[in-house]
Formats: sequence, C-alpha cells, structure tokens
Amino acid sequence: MNADKGRVLVTGGAGFIGSHTCLALVGAGWTPIILDNFCNSSPTAIKRVSELVQRELVLVEGDIRDTDLCEKTLKDHSCEAVIHFAGLKAVGESHEKPLDYYDANVLGSHSLLRAMSAASVNRFIFSSSATVYGVPQSLPLTEDHPLAPTNPYGQTKLAVENLLRDVAQSGQGLQCAILRYFNPVGADVSTRIGEDPRGIPNNLMPYIAQVAVGRRPHLNVMGNDYDTPDGTGVRDYIHVVDLAEAHVKALERLVSHDGSFTVNLGTGTGYSVLDMVRGFEKACGKTIPYEIAKRRAGDVASMYADPALAETLLGWRASRGIDEMCRDHWNWQSANPNGYDTPVETPA
Ligand code: NAD
Ligand code: WQD
Repeated sequence: MNADKGRVLVTGGAGFIGSHTCLALVGAGWTPIILDNFCNSSPTAIKRVSELVQRELVLVEGDIRDTDLCEKTLKDHSCEAVIHFAGLKAVGESHEKPLDYYDANVLGSHSLLRAMSAASVNRFIFSSSATVYGVPQSLPLTEDHPLAPTNPYGQTKLAVENLLRDVAQSGQGLQCAILRYFNPVGADVSTRIGEDPRGIPNNLMPYIAQVAVGRRPHLNVMGNDYDTPDGTGVRDYIHVVDLAEAHVKALERLVSHDGSFTVNLGTGTGYSVLDMVRGFEKACGKTIPYEIAKRRAGDVASMYADPALAETLLGWRASRGIDEMCRDHWNWQSANPNGYDTPVETPA
C-alpha cells in the first residue's frame, strides 16, 4: 500500500460508485472519510471495503444538507478535498418528485460547498452525468456539445455544474473537476462490493443480472425499432473500477495543477441492449430470456462518449471491455444474489 497522501471526504461513499472509489483511493494511498445517509445504500458496503483494505474506514452517518456536520467532518479530519457522489439518481422518479431531487442534489451540493468554504477546503470532484447533454446532436459526445437535459434529474446535475463554474470563476480559490459519467456497470473482482439497487432496477445491467440470478423472469427490451444496427438502444457502458480509478486521477490532477476541468468518463464504444444480453449470457453460461417491449419515454437511440479529453488531461482511459464488465457484474450478483442485506425474494 502507498504512503498516506491525505484525507478526502467522500459523500455517498457507501453507494455503487462511491464504494469502488473508496477502494481505489486507499489503493492509491489516500484516506477516504465517508459521509452517507444510507438512503440508497447499506453500511455493509463500507464494512466490506474496510475488510478488503484491512483497515477500519471512518464513516459518518449523516446528510449533506447538514452544513454544520459537513464542516465539522471536514475540519475534524483535515480533509484536503471532497469527492461528491451523494444524491438521488433515478430519472423516472425525478419526474414524480422534482422537489426531492432539487433538494438532495442542488441544495445538498450548495450546503457542501458552504461547508467547504467555512473549512477552507478547495478541491471538489463532482459526479455529473452524460444526461446533461440531452438528445445528442452529434456523436461521439464531446464536452463542448450543447447542454440540454430532458429530465429533472439531469437539470439538477446541470444546475450544480453551473453553480460550480460560477464559484470556480469567482476567485475564491475553488478548483473543481466535473466528471460526466456514461453508463457504469460491473463490480470489483473480489465480488464483495457491487451494485445493489433497491426495488425493481431502473438500469439495464442490474436488471439483466437479476434475471440471470432468478430474481426476475425476463428482461423487457425497451424498443427494437431504433436507428441502430440491431434496433435496440446503444450506450457507452464503463466498468465501475475504471471509473473509480479516474476519480483518483482527477484528484491528483487537482492537487498538481491549478484550475478546473470538465471531462467525459466513458469508453468511446457503444453497445446495444442485445450486445449486453449476449455478453452477459457468455459470462453466466445461461440464457437470458427477454421480451420486446415498447420504447421507454425519454430514451434516445445512441449515446457514447468521446473520451479523448480525459486521456489528455488525466492520463486515464478505460481499460476493461464488455467481457470484464459482464463477468465482474455476474460474479458479484451470483455471490450476493440478494445484494448486501436484502431479504430473499421469490421471483416475480
Ligand atoms: P448510489 O445511489 O449507489 O450512491 C449514492 C449514495 O449517496 C448512496 O450511498 C446514498 O445513500 C447517498 N446519499 C444520497 N443522498 C444523500 C444525502 N442527502 N446525504 C448523504 N448521503 C446521501 O448511486 P451511484 O450509482 O453510486 O451514483 C453516484 C453519483 O454518480 C450520483 O450523484 C449519481 O447521480 C451519479 N451518476 C451515476 C450514474 C449511474 O448510472 N450509476 C451515472 C451518472 C452519474
Ligand atoms: C440503457 C439501455 C434502455 C432497462 C441512465 C440515466 C443516465 C445515467 C445512466 C445517471 C437503454 C435499455 C433498460 C431495461 C432496457 N444515470 N433498457 N430494459 O437510460 O442510458 O441512462 O443511467 O446519471 O442519466 O438516464 O441507462 O441502463 O437505464 O438503459 O431495454 O429494463 O437499456 O432503453 O437503451 P440510460 P439504462
């Protein structure tokens, strides 16, 4: 293990991407200080990361909207930076509960920035999303593509991006890395941490994985009449461990260089829904039953990143392909059929 490079507040560190990033941070010599309210995660995730790194990680149970708690945590642990994952992320739910989404995502980020200002912490890494681009006008998506989110969740991400750009330009010393993730999938090879959605998964990979493990009878393929090679939607799936490693690179870039930046985190390769089904079948050795369903409202035919800027700025590019994504996702799901601590369900 590397020498201690410093402490980093990781909000939402018990979640899917946060838990993998905590593992990558420790591997690179950083100490994560985790703040999470467990509204979409389990403390077991942190227990397991602690076991993997053979060190008890600091975990503060609380909400990012509690500015005093954020300030105290930053000061108590002399944090040098913040990696901000905490927030709500379900596109469909954001149409039903926009107030909750603006509250958690926008007011939550504002609260955290206030706390950072009070604690004189100036480096901020933000989980943004490819959803800020809206309907692609050209592909691959470059960072200068117009920003036009089509759902409240995406609007909250864009609002925080704008807030960060304004604060960074105000001369108060904030340096920020805005990271626009494409479609994170997979899990750590240990099979100890992974994606554990509550209820019916919204996203493709966890849904396929739950079909493979017998929790759901079949996948609904939402549309096979798109203008894509096989008619199903094409996305840029990225292995969560590649994504986690990019956060370490972004942090180290903020430490070694002045200024702020915005980068896509994707692989640059698009795969269709049926490509992912076939990849998963290969990984698990089972047939994934599926039915063709109608298109999901708000979906686009194809979305994939131009990942060149991330390579130039961070010296990072995704190295894990579809086989590793499916293998690691399957190994996690089959070793933890009901996630971290969810009760056993009978198939629907
Ligand atoms: P996740 O739900 O697994 O993790 C989010 C974590 O934040 C959870 O542990 C949750 O309990 C915590 N949290 C939520 N609101 C909080 C609050 N108010 N105070 C404290 N903790 C709170 O989600 P994830 O997939 O790991 O995503 C992490 C971030 O990346 C999110 O901001 C999400 O919007 C963004 N993102 C995710 C994806 C994706 O497909 N997974 C894609 C693009 C961007
Ligand atoms: C992928 C493809 C679906 C489920 C979402 C958010 C985005 C980002 C990542 C947070 C599409 C198809 C899906 C299913 C299916 N999250 N599909 N059957 O929509 O690209 O992105 O997650 O920031 O903001 O919008 O990902 O995994 O939901 O869908 O056929 O049961 O799989 O139509 O073509 P998406 P997804």
